[in-house]
Amino acid sequence: MTAVGIDAIEIRTGKLKLDLPNTFAPEKGDDPAKYTKGLGLNNSSFPDVYEDIVTMGANAAKTLMDRKGLVPEDIGRIDVATESAFDHSKPVSTYIAGCLEQVYDGDFTHANKGERKFACVAGTQAIDDAYNWIRAGRNRGRAALVIATDTALYARGDPGEATQGAGAVAMLIDEDPSIVELSTHQGYGSKDETDFLKPNQQFPSVDGKRSMQVYLARMREALEDYQSVAGKVELDDFAYAPFHTPFPGMVRKAALLAYRHVIRDTSYEDDLAGEIGRQPREAEYDDREAFEEAIREYMDELKGTDQYQAWYADVVEPTLGLAREVGNWYTGSVHVARTSALRDLLERDGDGVGETLLVGSYGSGAQAEIHAETVCEGWQAEIEALDIDAQLAARYDLSWEEYEDVHDVHEYDKELDREIEEFTAPEAEFVFTGWGRMNERKYAYIA
Ligand code: CAA
Repeated sequence: MTAVGIDAIEIRTGKLKLDLPNTFAPEKGDDPAKYTKGLGLNNSSFPDVYEDIVTMGANAAKTLMDRKGLVPEDIGRIDVATESAFDHSKPVSTYIAGCLEQVYDGDFTHANKGERKFACVAGTQAIDDAYNWIRAGRNRGRAALVIATDTALYARGDPGEATQGAGAVAMLIDEDPSIVELSTHQGYGSKDETDFLKPNQQFPSVDGKRSMQVYLARMREALEDYQSVAGKVELDDFAYAPFHTPFPGMVRKAALLAYRHVIRDTSYEDDLAGEIGRQPREAEYDDREAFEEAIREYMDELKGTDQYQAWYADVVEPTLGLAREVGNWYTGSVHVARTSALRDLLERDGDGVGETLLVGSYGSGAQAEIHAETVCEGWQAEIEALDIDAQLAARYDLSWEEYEDVHDVHEYDKELDREIEEFTAPEAEFVFTGWGRMNERKYAYIA
């Protein structure tokens, strides 16, 4: 069977940043370490006045198409994943296609366009749709463009405010991919939950602590489901485990649970037994509470072992590098984690082809999905071409008052009593220019 997977990736960050330890923490009266160590974040990305989910998505897509030498007719499908859409009917993909058609000679008239929604897991679902479309032989030799784009803003004062972010990831899904091949096997953990939702509102209603429990529970189910089709996951099977990263501290919790699960009944558990004992088994306890307490103690000990720390440093920490600098990009977040991992692979010795990744996506509401990816020939050139370091370095560093302005400007229903100027000058990019007569959003390309 022909390999299907990710052939190209481009990342576009919002052009502004909020420094969490130095600007956010003092205003909140918090210890900066709550953000840098507790949540694991240094900065959040924000969109400038003229940026939004369309401009970031279109700019990422244009860079990708230019670098790959693609014209619109090479693309048979454009799917946008977002939880920041501003229209209940017209999909963001039509806006992005419209932007791109302003700068290319051809058009996307015969491309199927859509919008995927299931909180942050929608980006992975859009990749799934593209995979299935190609596997079904309906693509006529064309590739699919999947764009995960979000302005992940919370209401001012919400505990989630520290985890905001804005950016887009564009990915080309094709046969014989140049970055990773996707596994056919997948695992799901999915239940009706009300941990994080936006019922006809821009900013989410969030039960933060519950959302973390739901994330862990659904990920565990997805891992078990994945193992039921792909066989037991062994510790050494995967070079990296990129997971959905609402903030790195969440992945730190998930990684510890996953590690305990994966090493159970293996030589790794035996090797640790002398130091911290064997994992508690439920059958050995009279009641659930005593068992859970024993598990908590075991996990606390496990976290401090050299064996766990070494695995975490190799397999998980490298997936978090970009997230620490950009915050939560919702649908793009797991794809940012994969990219961080591949950037780390580039720095390691060896050619990396054939290395595998265990990818864990998650969307509130709630659903987790786990699959494997295998690194393909040609991946180095694709990852080397990313300019994300330059984009991060060029971000405008917001003062607290400027941050308040930016938040207000991007709040759809806010009546502004003042003019808020752009902080950066647009150059060779799509920008938002205002509203049209049917309340549609308008865009232009600034050369
Ligand atoms: N030094 C070091 N660590 C510190 C510290 C200090 N001075 N002060 C606090 N910390 C630690 C805390 O101990 C805590 O870590 P642990 O959980 O490991 O104990 C961490 O910093 C965060 O502190 P709090 O729990 O006190 O933070 P909070 O209550 O203000 O907010 C949150 C945390 C509830 C996650 C909040 O950020 C939130 O609501 N976020 C949005 C929801 C979210 O992201 N949920 C994640 C799962 S849902 C999902 O993944 C979907 C999605 O994208 C939204």
